[in-house]
Amino acid sequence: MKIDFQALTAIPTGAAVYFVEKDGVLSGAAAAANETANGALSRAIEVSRFDGKKGQGMEIVAPVGLDADRVILLGVGDVSELSDLDQVTLGAGIYVRCGNCGSKEAYVSADLDGLDTVKLAEGAAMRAYRFDKYLTKQEDDKKPSLKAVYFGCEDPTSAEEAFTARQAVVEGVTFTKDLTSETPNHLYPESFAAELRELSQLGVDVDVLGEAQMEELGMRSLLAVGQGSRRDSQLVVMRWNGDADSAPLALVGKGVTFDSGGISLKPGAGMDQMKWDMGGAGIVAGAIKALAGRKAKANVIGVVGLVENMPDGNAQRPGDVVTSMSGQTIEVLNTDAEGRMVLADALWYTKEEFKPKMMIDLATLTGAMVISLGHEYAGFFTDDDDIASGLSKAGEETGDKVWRLPLHTEYDKMINTPVADMKNVGERAAGSITAAQFLKRFVGDVPWAHIDVAGVVWADKDKHLCGRGATGYGVRLLDQFVADQFEAK
Ligand code: BES
Ligand code: ZN
Ligand code: ZN
Repeated sequence: MKIDFQALTAIPTGAAVYFVEKDGVLSGAAAAANETANGALSRAIEVSRFDGKKGQGMEIVAPVGLDADRVILLGVGDVSELSDLDQVTLGAGIYVRCGNCGSKEAYVSADLDGLDTVKLAEGAAMRAYRFDKYLTKQEDDKKPSLKAVYFGCEDPTSAEEAFTARQAVVEGVTFTKDLTSETPNHLYPESFAAELRELSQLGVDVDVLGEAQMEELGMRSLLAVGQGSRRDSQLVVMRWNGDADSAPLALVGKGVTFDSGGISLKPGAGMDQMKWDMGGAGIVAGAIKALAGRKAKANVIGVVGLVENMPDGNAQRPGDVVTSMSGQTIEVLNTDAEGRMVLADALWYTKEEFKPKMMIDLATLTGAMVISLGHEYAGFFTDDDDIASGLSKAGEETGDKVWRLPLHTEYDKMINTPVADMKNVGERAAGSITAAQFLKRFVGDVPWAHIDVAGVVWADKDKHLCGRGATGYGVRLLDQFVADQFEAK
């Protein structure tokens, strides 16, 4: 969908979008249109329940006197009270109201003081995402009608300029959604790595390690997960260095392109969902794309461990003991607790190879996280209060919300075993926490946070900023975190 900025047009065509403040107060442009239409807009408001509250919307089709096909009124409440996130959400609302309305173009008159056209555009662009590449027989009336949104504002040139950076972030979110939506026969470790190689076009250095190289490095923990699959495992390193003088922030992602559970096979119902068990790696990839796309002044490394967890004759068995790259041994008691085994080697490798200033890993790690926080907040774990407050702030600002959960030596003891240095599962209790404790054994002294995104990378229902399906969660969170904690300093 095309997004453009232009001077405020007096007589829009297509879908004319106007804003209305609380108690039904029309914006200047809306009032002018109302006059041209002989009061049709205010009369429509009078006879409806629409009164300009934030989030409300109303459509008036073909008002006499106007060139527009339809007028869409959007409530903003009190503009001075709108947060940045409210503005992005309002923009997403434009797409929700206009995407399938029948008009090909929407003209948004953003003439209220305090409205941020760039944030509106960001929301609209993000909400327009669809994954429909496999629908070969879709009828035209099922496809979105809207092809372009024109934002009328005071200063189109500077809006256009400011939007370039935000568009890069939207493209990062889109990349994450594309990867997460892709089906497991098409997206497997090698094809995932091939997608990531494309990031070199944006100035990202991309290195791919295959199984032989990982074997050489001693990554038996990661490799054990992939050994029951016909697909070769991969470890991909993406480097964006917009600040050559500083130690990097490392983002590490779990990229299980399909998690069947392995020999500890998952139940059949809903197993298809485990195509998005690469969601953490998808977030890392999208974040790197966003940061490179907007040329962030920060040194950021993305590392993703890409494997397929399958149960063939070569698969790892419950009871196996493997030696991770760190030298620590792991007793595999459940082959479905594979994400932590992938991250164990990915984290250790990242720490050793890049000496990062900070590491943040993202993983669809535990079903228990979905039980505790559902689909609103991701849960995160860290011993570092500064990282914690930085993540929480970025979460509130972007809507990619995070909630802190505890780490403690008492939980750590729950993964001890007489057979090896640790086992890969605790008991059922505190399942997300014992998984985090497991990861903590592979990060050394590096300031680190683990974000369990199991509940948030996919949505079964429409949300404010995205439709059902892949949410793109996490890209805006990390983009904001980098802006606040690395670029602002
Ligand atoms: N990928 C799953 C976690 C998951 C489950 C994410 C449901 C999203 C929705 C992970 O690999 C897994 O299977 N974890 C097990 C761990 C258990 C065996 C200790 C789980 O959560 O059940
Ligand atoms: Zn699993
Ligand atoms: Zn998994």
